[in-house]
Amino acid sequence: MSAKQLFEDMKKNLGKIVPEAELKYKAELAYEIIELKHEKNAVILGHNYMEPALYYTIPDFRGDSLELARQAAKTDKDVIVFCGVRFMAETAKILSPDKTVLLPAKKAGCSLADSISASDVRELKKKFPGVPVVTYVNTYADVKAESDVCCTSGNAAEVVNSLKTDKIIFLPDQYLAANVARETGKHIIYPTRFPKSKTIDLTNLEYQMIGWEGKCEVHEEFNVKDIENTRKQFPDVVILAHPECKPEVCAAADFSGSTSAMVRYVQETKAPHYLLLTECSMGDNIAASNPDKDMLRLCSVRCPHMNEISLEETRDALKNMQYVIEVPEETRIKAYSAVQRMIEIG
Ligand code: 13P
Ligand code: SF4
Repeated sequence: MSAKQLFEDMKKNLGKIVPEAELKYKAELAYEIIELKHEKNAVILGHNYMEPALYYTIPDFRGDSLELARQAAKTDKDVIVFCGVRFMAETAKILSPDKTVLLPAKKAGCSLADSISASDVRELKKKFPGVPVVTYVNTYADVKAESDVCCTSGNAAEVVNSLKTDKIIFLPDQYLAANVARETGKHIIYPTRFPKSKTIDLTNLEYQMIGWEGKCEVHEEFNVKDIENTRKQFPDVVILAHPECKPEVCAAADFSGSTSAMVRYVQETKAPHYLLLTECSMGDNIAASNPDKDMLRLCSVRCPHMNEISLEETRDALKNMQYVIEVPEETRIKAYSAVQRMIEIG
């Protein structure tokens, strides 16, 4: 396909979402990236939160964290370019250590991954000996290495149910943990909420899940009030919330699921209006592939970390083979079994 054809395609699909002048420039960049991708024998994985002009042009695979981890595990290309955030690229390296994994931005962090360290997990394991640790994939490799099994929002409840133990440590997202506890009928406690001055006898407390107080800085912005106000104005709206939203928000929504589960839900249903309570680029991406559906736009909560990944940065990543993701082998081996278990469930 020529750059001109690519631009015409983009205009047809994204013309209502991205201004034409911007599309022209982005089509040239996307064309350059596709050429470089073939030259370097690379695969590009694009998370559902990528901006539309990137999302619809350069990735070989698009999807949620779980789908992209599965693609990273089975690619036969030499290079994996991860258009997502650092923990996702690290997961790809854990699964495919022989590949060169590139993240097109130096940092591209995540407030959840930054909320917990490996020594925090070791402390918890000391406090709750023998209790299995389930860790959300939104964590760094050294935290995964301390865990028994990882999960994503796409299989969290299945992972918890698969353990068949009476107690589980679930880290680090307090809201995802509370949503999973609700879904699996478990009672959750957060030891970090207990007063530090008092010694609490945890053996006498009733609980089945032990959580941590991490939060996604994007999803914590949504409130039940947003849902109530939207329903007042659009009584027939269907509201979808990512499980990183507060439990009361997920309970008040009509559907809650991973980013890909939300994409599929909109594709497969027919409602007069939809409202997405998640990162705002995904709303643009869904609107582009469902031009017949009315996507209400409540907000412009863009994940600042996902936003670091642009077409320019991806072109430079392939051109200069940067930024190479490395995971120390000892950590990788420990993290591998937790991540491998995750991709096999759900
Ligand atoms: P998904 O696994 O649902 O794609 O979510 C990843 C994420 O970071 C959401 O904020
Ligand atoms: Fe992390 Fe939230 Fe951004 Fe997802 S949206 S990458 S959880 S900060």
